[in-house]
Amino acid sequence: MTMRRIARLILPAVTVSALALASAIGSTRADTADLGRGLKSPAEIVPTGDPASRSRALFTEAAKVLTDPRCMNCHPADRQPTQGDAMRPHAPFMQAGESGFGQPGLNCNSCHRTENTTLVGSRIGSVPGATPWLLAPASMAWQGLTLGGICQQLKDPARNGGRSLAQIHTHLAEDHLVAWAWHPGEGRRPAPGTQAAFGALIAAWIETGAECPP
Ligand code: HEC
Ligand code: HEC
Repeated sequence: MTMRRIARLILPAVTVSALALASAIGSTRADTADLGRGLKSPAEIVPTGDPASRSRALFTEAAKVLTDPRCMNCHPADRQPTQGDAMRPHAPFMQAGESGFGQPGLNCNSCHRTENTTLVGSRIGSVPGATPWLLAPASMAWQGLTLGGICQQLKDPARNGGRSLAQIHTHLAEDHLVAWAWHPGEGRRPAPGTQAAFGALIAAWIETGAECPP
């Protein structure tokens, strides 16, 4: 077999896989853009099947926010915050400890200020900030859980800070660290929709029985 014949056999395969890769990357971008466009309103969540299914569908829509990296990075599986949309380990290495504030001498507030701090001439657009800035407690870890697992955690007073469902709604609709997710600073994509739209989905989920997906 001549070199040219081998090239004719191999090259199309390379081109096809490169195209497949390019379109895979393209579709990832499109999905991210979709999330950025927003959340459905409760009225757009149509019941299918049994009555509890609407409640589960409302939670699943709201979970587009709950599972967004802006929230998940502070609700990690261990005591270490993660960063960015890829939820990579925090650099520098941070162990938030029991308090959530980090270790004496290098606590979160050494770098995270009361507001986002825009950086000029840095690869990182800004250092995120809010008062106080700290990691969620271990009982509120979400990374690695299924949607059903996150839902059960939210509803469980033993793990959710002793909150009723009404208090969970207030936290999600009004808390300042939750609010930060829609104003995350230069270089960071905000959570989908708005905090008000998210609050409306959570309210409707609670009204319909706060059912959890499997
Ligand atoms: C030495 C400085 C420093 C310390 C200390 C520090 N951080 Fe960070 N943190 C940063 C910087 C800088 C970024 C932005 C990185 C980026 O966007 O690539 C960041 C990003 C984050 C993010 C990611 C936000 C997002 O959605 O991408 C979280 C969450 C976070 N820090 C939590 C904490 C917590 C919790 C503590 C304390 C336990 C802490 N950090 C301590 C410098 C620090
Ligand atoms: C900077 C870190 C940080 C970010 C960002 C953050 N949280 Fe939290 N979260 C916390 C801390 C700390 C607590 C514990 C505070 C308390 O119990 O009053 C908490 C508690 C909660 C609770 C209450 C208890 C429970 O059942 O988990 C909910 C709900 C919650 N966060 C949702 C969110 C959502 C939704 C987002 C994103 C839109 C978010 N958080 C972003 C740090 C964060």
